[in-house]
Amino acid sequence: MKSDLQKIHTQNLDLFYGDTQALKDVSISLEEKKVTAFIGPSGCGKSTFLKTLNRMNDLVDNVKISGKVFLDNLNIYEKYDIVELRKRVGMVFQKPNPFPMSIYDNIAYGPRVHGIKSKSILNEIVEKSLKNAALWDEVKDRLKQNALGLSGGQQQRLCIARVLAVEPEVVLMDEPTSALDPLSTLKIEDLINELKKNYTIIIVTHNMQQAGRISDKTAFFLLGEIVEYGSTDKIFSVPEDKRTEDYITGRFG
Ligand SMILES: Nc1ncnc2c1ncn2[C@@H]1O[C@H](COP(=O)(O)OP(=O)(O)OP(=O)(O)O)[C@@H](O)[C@H]1O
Ligand SMILES: [Mg+2]
Repeated sequence: MKSDLQKIHTQNLDLFYGDTQALKDVSISLEEKKVTAFIGPSGCGKSTFLKTLNRMNDLVDNVKISGKVFLDNLNIYEKYDIVELRKRVGMVFQKPNPFPMSIYDNIAYGPRVHGIKSKSILNEIVEKSLKNAALWDEVKDRLKQNALGLSGGQQQRLCIARVLAVEPEVVLMDEPTSALDPLSTLKIEDLINELKKNYTIIIVTHNMQQAGRISDKTAFFLLGEIVEYGSTDKIFSVPEDKRTEDYITGRFG
């Protein structure tokens, strides 16, 4: 059964790349309108798990997935329209990846794919999305310029605006600030704090301070499994598992 707070839950999720098992029996419930952080050493399956939540792994050759992933009450690995799924569950990547087109067209791209043609509606969506991504003031006079001319931090906020433009319910972020300077990082963190009023946010980060600053709950991954999951305060102050403690105190990983 779905509890009121639960937005996504997985049951016994296994994932293999060829013969290599990257996820082992992952069962977790992710809360609505909260920020959940995934932490753990390199190669432990964080990105893989994040990508299973909007079926990005479907594109990989030789991938085998079993178990269930529910968005609200629907299993996204059963009959499910992928375009609809990607609209509801958006993703922001480690490296900002704007399309090589204008700032305006980057934001309007998704809504256009979903059939919106009206210029005035698109104008509204572009303005609102850029405002929600805290980028509007910096770009409002250069909307027709190529997005690749923005700074890295601006490009990342543009990518967040692009996701917001299709009004998702869940935003997946895979190390969204690892390529950014401290000031741009803080801007994105402030933004995440704002966004969680309306969106369910799941973020992978290697930065323990960042996880502590922005997340409500934290899951610690090791070798494809979730070792420990709970409130961020608890995970960072009184972890139950020795391996979690070793990781967050920097003794390994
Ligand atoms: N497309 C792929 N094909 C084959 N193996 C893969 C593929 N993507 C990931 N893997 C393997 O799956 C395991 C988990 O990788 P994943 O990228 O999920 O780790 P991660 O926790 O995100 O690591 P990092 O912190 O370095 O980003 C690793 O052993 C990796 O080599
Ligand atoms: Mg990764």
